Parts: sequence; C-alpha cells; structure tokens
Amino acid sequence: MKTEAIILAAGEGTRMRSALPKVLHPLAGKPLLQRVLEAALALQPARCHIIIGPATGEMVKAALSGFDIHWVMQDEQLGTGHAVLQAMPAVADDSTVLTLLGDVPLIDPAALRSLTRAAAEAPALLTAVVEDSTGYGRVLRDAQGAFQQVVEERDASDQQRRVKEINTGIIAAPAALLQRCLPRLDNRNAQGHYYLPDVLKMAASDGLPVATQQAAHTVDILGVNDRLQLNNLEREYQLRAARRLLREGATLADARRIDIRGELICGKDVFIDANTVFEGRVRLGDGARVGANCVLIDCEIGDGVNIHPFCHIEGAAVAADCSVGPYARLRPAARLAAGAKVGNFVEIKEADIGPGSKVNHLSYIGDCEMGAGVNIGAGTITCNYDGAEKHRTRIGDGAFIGSNSTLVAPLEIGADAFTGAGSTVTSAVGDKQLAVGRGRQRNIDGWRRPRRVENQKKKAQARESEREQRPQAQAREREQTREQRPRKQRKG
Ligand code: UD1
Ligand code: CA
Repeated sequence: MKTEAIILAAGEGTRMRSALPKVLHPLAGKPLLQRVLEAALALQPARCHIIIGPATGEMVKAALSGFDIHWVMQDEQLGTGHAVLQAMPAVADDSTVLTLLGDVPLIDPAALRSLTRAAAEAPALLTAVVEDSTGYGRVLRDAQGAFQQVVEERDASDQQRRVKEINTGIIAAPAALLQRCLPRLDNRNAQGHYYLPDVLKMAASDGLPVATQQAAHTVDILGVNDRLQLNNLEREYQLRAARRLLREGATLADARRIDIRGELICGKDVFIDANTVFEGRVRLGDGARVGANCVLIDCEIGDGVNIHPFCHIEGAAVAADCSVGPYARLRPAARLAAGAKVGNFVEIKEADIGPGSKVNHLSYIGDCEMGAGVNIGAGTITCNYDGAEKHRTRIGDGAFIGSNSTLVAPLEIGADAFTGAGSTVTSAVGDKQLAVGRGRQRNIDGWRRPRRVENQKKKAQARESEREQRPQAQAREREQTREQRPRKQRKG
C-alpha cells in the first residue's frame, strides 16, 4: 500500500504575533514544519505534499528548499478540510493519505506508521487524553464507545468541552474516501470553516468503522498555537533529551539547564555543567568536561578534554587532553592537537595548534600552522589580514613567542626560534634565532614629573617658571618625545 503525506501549513499563526510564519519557528533549533516533515519522511511516503498560503508560502518554501516536496497553494484559509482538498488532485486514488499538522512538531513516526496501517479500508484518527483539553477538538463517542465525531471547542456544548479525549489533528484515510467526502464538507460552524475531522463524522454515519488510536505520550501530539505552548514544548523536548543523556551515562549538573539544538554524542563519563548550549553536531569524547555557560556548535571534542566555563566553540576540532578557556573562542577550522592549551581571552581561527603547544592568554591566532611544544606569550597577535588578502603564519616546533609579539603574515618562524617580547616581526626567523623587533630602551636622567596646577592663572605662571627652571637637556628631550609625554598625572 502506497502512502502519501499531506502536511497543513497554510495558516499564518497569528497567535504567535510574529513576522515569521508559525511553522518556521524553531523547536530545539529546527523549524516546526521540518520536524513534522521528517517524521512523515520516516514512513517513506510515495510523495509529500505541503499546503502553503499566499502570505507565508514563499518563506516556507525557501526554508525547506532542500527537501523534495510537492507544494500546494491554498489561496484562502477556509479550514483544514479545504486545505487537504487542495492537494487531492495530485494524490493517487489507491493510496493511503496521512494528514499532519505543521504545528504539531514532536509527532512520533511509530504512531504515524501504526495509524497509517489501520487506515487501509476506513479512516483512522490519532487521539490523546489530556488533562487540559482547552482549544482542541473533542472526540465524541456513542454509548458503545464507537467514534461519532470531533467537535471543535467553539462549537462544543459545556458538557462536550469536559471531554478529555482530543483530536490530535493527525488522520489517515484511503484517498478514495477523501476524494468522495472532502467536496461534501460544509462550513456551518462557529468559524465558518471546512473542517477536516468532519470527514470522519461522514464516514461514521455512512457506517464505516472509524479506528482511533491513542498516542502513547501526550507531549508528542501537542500543538503550537502561541509562544507559551512553543516554550512548553521546547522545555519538554530538552528535558527528555537531558534524561536520555543521563540514562546513556553522562553526568549533567542540572538536567533542566542544558539545551541541545541538534545532535550531541557523548562518550563515557562526560560531565556537562549548567547552562551549556549545543548546536548542530557535537561529539564529546570519553571523560570530556564542559564547564558552565559554554556554547558548542558543530565541533569534535576529544577524550579527556577540559573546557572551562564561558567558552564559545564553533566548527573546531579539539584533540585528546586539551585544556580550553575559561573565556576562549575557537572559530571554524581551529584545530588543537593532543595536549594543547588555549587559555583565557584567546581567539583561534583556521589554525593548527600543535601537540602540547600553549596559547594561554589574550591572543589572536588566525591562519596559522603551529608545530609541537610552542609557547605563545600573552597578547600575541597574528596579523593575518592586510586589508585585502589573508596570509599564513608558520611557527616551528619548540618556538617561543615573547609576550605582545605582533607576527605580520606571511611569516615563517623556525623551530626553537625566539621572539623578544613586544616585537613586531615582519620577516622570517630561522631555526634557533632570536628576533627582536622593537625600539631600543633609553633611560633619561633628571626627569621631572609634570605638576598638576589649580587654576588658569597659576597654570600660566607654572609654565613660565618651568620654562626658566628646566635644564636645557630636558627641554630638548621633551621636544623630541612630545608624543609620549604623559598628559596628566596618573593616579595609583
Ligand atoms: C485543529 C483541529 C482540532 C485539533 C487541533 C490539534 C480542525 C478543524 N481542528 O485545530 O480538532 O484538536 O488542530 O492541534 O481540524 N491550516 C491550513 N489551512 C487552513 C487552516 C489551517 O493549512 O485553512 C493549517 C494551519 O497552518 C496549521 C494546521 O492547519 O498548521 C492546524 O490549524 P489550526 O488553525 O492551528 O487548527 P486548530 O484550531 O489548532
Ligand atoms: Ca493548531
């Protein structure tokens, strides 16, 4: 039996109060509609149709441009039944149709599969029993418990509203039945809409047995109509993900203070502290530790790595036993070899940091190949950009780069080479050479500290007397070093 999926996503979702179409709001980093689509694709349907509306359709199409979808325009949002009808001309008569709502993002493929199997001959409805059924269509049954109809909240009597069994909105039905029933729907209801669930009512009154299946977990079927519901689902999703990690053997400081917006793969004995965010695909090796308030995006973290608090790591590969942070930023293609150390306020971009090398404080290393056992002093900067092009810096094994060195690329620094602190290094340094590229120090005798004066008149007098008193040599020095002269006496 062939299955075709139809996903409804034409509504604007006005209750979100957003410029972004509701179905594109992310849950755990992925648009709601993409989550629904991926659940449907797990059934390997012959075709997937998505109903879009004129106001938001282009944005929705663009967001899911990577998928093979038959897009169907519903010019006016006249209800869920009307929406499904728009896709029917493209649906094969002998298929089973699975209809899904673009705003029910956590639906479980297993439930969809089972529902579709039950719908070969007659329609089947996925229901759920919820504590608070407000806003949902209620499932009405006869005295024998057989399905009769779904009544929307706005059309329901007080007694009907007390029903806790609700329509999840997910229905499977033979295509032929939908072809027959959808055009017969009416819109005589509080919203003036053509309701999809009314198809089930028609089938039941025609004597067809409408199957119902109850969802195993109610979270799976919750719909998102406003941001409060979206947030509730997000937290439920995250809590589940955290609990799964705990069961798989990771230690979390707090299962309620971790966010996984993608895929997090943990080795044995991983520890993750509070308020950490993972995006894309992140792998943590055995015994890795992630400190509080870190953001890790698409990266590989090796065994025994210690990431201290407040690090931002994106597109980086960190090999075993490295230490990173606190307050480090590893940008795309930062690669740390085993045992490397990157300390506080260090930014690394497109650079290989060799085994055991250290960049411990306040540095920028970009477009660089660094050997093993290199020591980069505090405040070292690779000047990789000349305003037009990026250039590379190569630093050999065992080199020692003095603090506050400015390495102007393209540049080669040999093995076991040294650069003096504060050097601006612009040309190659050979193996074992020391490069000193800075002004030579001079010491000036008899230097008089400038004095602070109270008012303008006194200032003028002071200048006058200073000029008279100042030794000639000092006057000359002052002329020469005007730019370096302290303007104001510093405190402390
Ligand atoms: C719908 C169901 C309700 C069910 C609930 C489950 C109907 C009439 N009501 O109510 O029984 O309990 O879902 O979450 O089916 N859409 C279109 N075109 C339209 C109208 C809607 O594509 O003309 C799309 C919306 O974009 C949305 C989905 O269908 O993705 C559901 O529409 P929504 O208005 O949210 O229906 P509910 O009131 O939640
Ligand atoms: Ca809804």
